[in-house]
Amino acid sequence: MVQLTLPKHSQVQSGKVYPAPQGATRIRRVEVYRYDPETGGNPRLDVFHIDLDRCGPMVLDAVLKIKNEIDSTLAFRRSCREGVCGSCAMNIDGRNTLACTKALEDCADTVKIYPLPHLPVVKDLVPDMTHFFAQYASVKPWIQTQTPPPADRERPQSREERAKLDGLYDCILCACCSTSCPSYWWNSERYLGPATLLQAQRWIQDSRDEFTGERLDALEDPFKLYRCHTIMNCTDTCPKSLNPAKAIAEIKKLLVERQR
Ligand code: SF4
Ligand code: SF4
Ligand code: FES
Repeated sequence: MVQLTLPKHSQVQSGKVYPAPQGATRIRRVEVYRYDPETGGNPRLDVFHIDLDRCGPMVLDAVLKIKNEIDSTLAFRRSCREGVCGSCAMNIDGRNTLACTKALEDCADTVKIYPLPHLPVVKDLVPDMTHFFAQYASVKPWIQTQTPPPADRERPQSREERAKLDGLYDCILCACCSTSCPSYWWNSERYLGPATLLQAQRWIQDSRDEFTGERLDALEDPFKLYRCHTIMNCTDTCPKSLNPAKAIAEIKKLLVERQR
């Protein structure tokens, strides 16, 4: 079992430099963080010169090109290629976002690609999401009920009740928000972070759920919820334009209101 450690960005060394192919005229320099805990060495930054005339428009296209044509050992996650699965989240040009929806033309002249910050790195651009998803599971992200559903149909929900889930159900659990949150960086063992709290609010708001009180009880904790200091990095960085900070504020409001 390899012991995963937080990447030491201060120890990142210069790595290999791959020149542009002969004849390329539109070239983009791409720096990619490389780290393999199994080898135990310091992380390094490899530099790839990408021929934009032979590459798709998105950062993920460049990363795929590197893996397919230049260095097959590069590790990263991706699946849907259209901003739905959340697996290609990376830190690109200093900002957490999805590689598949970030256009190369919107990046700096040198595109800097790192894994999501403040998570242990499994390899290269692949962070260890185990703790993040355990926190997500801890809010019981499914409908909990005590009463049986109607015999002849599913549990009904009015249009207005369904509309309350907009901006919540759309979260793709990419973790861009949580890993941009300073409170989460320093307290992630106990603070649930914006992604999980937005998901908690998604189930609190679901009119079909009958465990709202228990859900709020579980969040009434100085660390799980109240480590949010409204710094707003989460909302600023969300690639789906969601507002986790607002979801957190609404949970806090519900907790206050039920004490009245
Ligand atoms: S709220 Fe946004 S940034 Fe956070 S996990 Fe969901 S989609 Fe990703
Ligand atoms: S608003 Fe709260 S959750 Fe969002 S970045 Fe700030 S401290 Fe973190
Ligand atoms: S590959 Fe699915 S969100 Fe980017």
